[in-house]
Amino acid sequence: FDHNLLSGCHVVITAGPTREAIDPVRYITNQSSGKMGYAVAEAAAEAGARVTLISGPVNLPTPTRVHRIDVVRADEMYDASMAVVGEGCDVFIATAAVADYRPTITSDHKIKKSTEEIHLTLVKNPDIVAAVAAHARRPFTVGFAAETHDVITYAQRKLENKHLDMIATNDVSGENVGFNSDNNALTVIWPGGHKVLPLAAKRQIAKQLIELIAIRYKR
Ligand code: C5P
Repeated sequence: FDHNLLSGCHVVITAGPTREAIDPVRYITNQSSGKMGYAVAEAAAEAGARVTLISGPVNLPTPTRVHRIDVVRADEMYDASMAVVGEGCDVFIATAAVADYRPTITSDHKIKKSTEEIHLTLVKNPDIVAAVAAHARRPFTVGFAAETHDVITYAQRKLENKHLDMIATNDVSGENVGFNSDNNALTVIWPGGHKVLPLAAKRQIAKQLIELIAIRYKR
């Protein structure tokens, strides 16, 4: 592993879930430990990059030489991302499991148990990685896609729809990969090519992903 692979580069990574409050004690979130994103941040730092990690609520230590910005909601992650991208960065890697929707209203008091059925109205959150890819100071933009079926088809569609430079996709239907696991397997897709990174420790997969990103970014 080349420790100067990304020297001089500013790499920004989103990681973990976001949390969208329903009331002061309840929220909507996604299944995400943040492990993959934190491993990618660590690998980018080991490759010599300056790393900013924009993190949702997770239980993980900050990797060494990584600048961490903590956020809770998707709109906070969006604002933090736009701020760093606006200042100029080289590579943006979106590993975060952002909540697609948030409650239209957040109650400022605990909602009381009442009728048999209650309704929650949700509104779409902004797509962070798509906004980064559409930014005037667009960095090399990498997305993630966790799918349970037709993994490659959906990932390819996301690559195109969100105008990404690369997408890393994994099948989360198995037990030994994705989510809380320490292992992962990825298929990395870019316009005109792809590479399979077989099941390995997330730290190992993260290093391989950083190598692929560095090659494509430098073209
Ligand atoms: O569309 P989907 O959520 O499956 O796309 C996943 C990719 O998009 C991930 O890279 C994720 O971090 C990013 N994303 C985002 N903002 C959202 C939703 C997803 O940056 N609101």
